Amino acid sequence: MATTKRFDVKDLGLAEEGVRRIEWADRQMPVLQAIRARFESEQPLNGYRVAACLHVTTETANLMRTLKAGGADVVLCASNPLSTQDDVAAALVDEFDVSVFAIKGEDNDTYYSHIEAAVDHKPHLTMDDGADVIGVLHSHRREQLGDIIAGTEETTTGVIRLKALEAEDKLGFPIIAVNEAKTKHLFDNRYGTGQSTIDGIIRATNVLLAGKRFVIAGYGWVGRGVALRARGMGSHVIITEVDPMRALEAGMEGFEVLPMEKAAEIGDIFCTATGDKHVIRREHMERMKDGAILSNTGHFNVEIDIPALKSLATDTRQAREFVEEFVLDDGRRLYLIADGRLVNLAAAEGHPAIVMDMSFANQALAAEFAVQNAGKLERKVYGVPDEIDREIARLKLATMGIDIDQLTEEQAKYLASWDEGT
Ligand SMILES: NC(=O)c1ccc[n+]([C@@H]2O[C@H](COP(=O)([O-])OP(=O)(O)OC[C@H]3O[C@@H](n4cnc5c(N)ncnc54)[C@H](O)[C@@H]3O)[C@@H](O)[C@H]2O)c1
Repeated sequence: MATTKRFDVKDLGLAEEGVRRIEWADRQMPVLQAIRARFESEQPLNGYRVAACLHVTTETANLMRTLKAGGADVVLCASNPLSTQDDVAAALVDEFDVSVFAIKGEDNDTYYSHIEAAVDHKPHLTMDDGADVIGVLHSHRREQLGDIIAGTEETTTGVIRLKALEAEDKLGFPIIAVNEAKTKHLFDNRYGTGQSTIDGIIRATNVLLAGKRFVIAGYGWVGRGVALRARGMGSHVIITEVDPMRALEAGMEGFEVLPMEKAAEIGDIFCTATGDKHVIRREHMERMKDGAILSNTGHFNVEIDIPALKSLATDTRQAREFVEEFVLDDGRRLYLIADGRLVNLAAAEGHPAIVMDMSFANQALAAEFAVQNAGKLERKVYGVPDEIDREIARLKLATMGIDIDQLTEEQAKYLASWDEGT
């Protein structure tokens, strides 16, 4: 199909492969399929323009199809320069008539020019993964703030940025923090990132995880998931934390907890998952063993201090696709995967579709909720309404063929009372 839309993608010739892969992912996304069918008949987003800045993957493509089915006019740009799947970008333009601006490996200037192109679409709704569109709108495109009824945010790091804007009373429009939905972070961050991060490290390096010391910085939802799966592959897992509660939980789960200074000396594989900056820095790299592998699965590539690594190195070369070797002056070699960017998206395919099904069901229903409540929400960061979260959990259970019990009348009464039971 010839597109009528503006776009900048690598090669439209890749569209056929992209369509096949989008359809494959769709088979694993029954909740989104059900929402798409309802959207097609009810058209809840009719007449609304959406600017989405998300990882351009097969699962995102199915979300775009869903928004379009609901009547929205959608533009999509990448939320990371390395995570775009070029065949998917081509398919969205060529087959699904969605305007896409994303090329895998695009340089910083192109990355930001693509975000500007999405903002040029004059959106009523924004959809972010890391708050980059919101960042542009709140800096030099402020004149558009008033046209926007609401935005959604997919990830922890974006929510942190948006809460900071809210705290300074500078948030220009209401935000629905999709990441805060239980059907998002309990599953996507933990099981999705857990599996796909391990997948990315293995695809990039082909190392055996069994018997290795695997250091994970951060025991949040993502860190927990990576730790669980690394242990399952036979690694000895070491956690570093700054939060005493989380560190305690990691210890009780049987993981070794160490400060990074100590972990740096013994780790074979490192993975940061904190959303923080310079978690692995010069003083840690100076202690690392020859052959240590460094990766990140947090949102931005600032968790590993890459400038410090570069300044320590006397020589660098590409050891494998996605793996850069840094030779230090004493001959030790450290290996950095995917330039310190989200390893699961840069070196693998991101989360499996079945997990994104719930996250993106939240995105689609949050967009509908925003439209239904246009003008009624304040310039605040809202969680996803509990009814939406529970509805997605119900739909998901149904698609998994799992039935659960219902409270009896007697039980409902008992659980709502204070004077029964002694
Ligand atoms: N790769 C992906 O696909 C993917 C998916 C979901 C989330 N994320 C990103 O992963 C990051 C973590 O997300 P989360 O949901 O687990 O967040 P979270 O807030 O649940 O966990 C982060 C943990 O890191 C700890 N931490 C902070 N600074 C630290 C430091 N200097 N050293 C050690 N620990 C430190 C915090 O105490 C916290 O326990 C975020 O950047 C998020 O956006 C990535």
